[in-house]
Amino acid sequence: MKQLLLIGIGPGDPRQITLQAVEALQRAQVFFVLDKGDVGRELLQARRVMLEQHRADGNYRLVQVTDPRREPLAVDYQGAVHDWHEQRAALYAQLVSDELGEGEIGAFLLWGEPGLYDSTLRILDLVRQRGVQLTLEVIPGISSVQALAARHQIPLNRVSEALTILPGRRLLEQATIDNVVVMLDGDCHFAHIQRHDLYIYWGAYLGSADELLIAGPLQEVKARIVQVRERARQEKGWIMDTYLLRRES
Ligand SMILES: C[S@@+](CC[C@H](N)C(=O)[O-])C[C@H]1O[C@@H](n2cnc3c(N)ncnc32)[C@H](O)[C@@H]1O
Repeated sequence: MKQLLLIGIGPGDPRQITLQAVEALQRAQVFFVLDKGDVGRELLQARRVMLEQHRADGNYRLVQVTDPRREPLAVDYQGAVHDWHEQRAALYAQLVSDELGEGEIGAFLLWGEPGLYDSTLRILDLVRQRGVQLTLEVIPGISSVQALAARHQIPLNRVSEALTILPGRRLLEQATIDNVVVMLDGDCHFAHIQRHDLYIYWGAYLGSADELLIAGPLQEVKARIVQVRERARQEKGWIMDTYLLRRES
């Protein structure tokens, strides 16, 4: 049977991977890395550095492929994601069939935590539905959410309050906000909120040398975050940021 390891490698700081992840890195014979354009190139480099550090033996194969792109302007968002996942499932099925020998161990190095806003597990379900036989092992990782809380030195929720995690495009439909972590927000939805009872803890490139942190009452700092974010995005060509919105007590 072929085996695949889904290894969570943390959100950017090479020290933020677990001993279990290092052990898994040392077991795999084939690493699959997906090139996702500008963002991907730097993240690809981070993965290479990790491999050099933990696999000094060099006794592995690196299989690099270009990830299919999702239709960015699709009106039917769910439909576009479904099509994109099917394309990726076809690609992954081919990779497992062509690049992984019987009895070999392959690995995907997944950013942050594999169970949080990462479609690899769903896609591998589709791969299995296509008749490809494999066993899976998931190695948890530190997510950007945990890194954000640690860098701002805050708990993610207050006593007995709920913690909600959502993608940026769902933020403005929230009726109540106690503690809301927002990810995947390329459009700065926080900037459209006019309420005066919210505090924001924002972080970009968490764990890397380019890390940016801003915190304060939302109305006081939102314009600065938008400005700093845009400047950084233009300078580097990409950005990844996460923030927590909290109702002041
Ligand atoms: C596809 S999701 C992957 C999340 C990842 N599985 C995790 O556990 O952090 C990508 C989103 O995660 C967040 N993110 C990932 N790495 C980050 C980092 N180093 N700094 C800030 N946000 C990050 C951003 O919101 C980004 O849009």
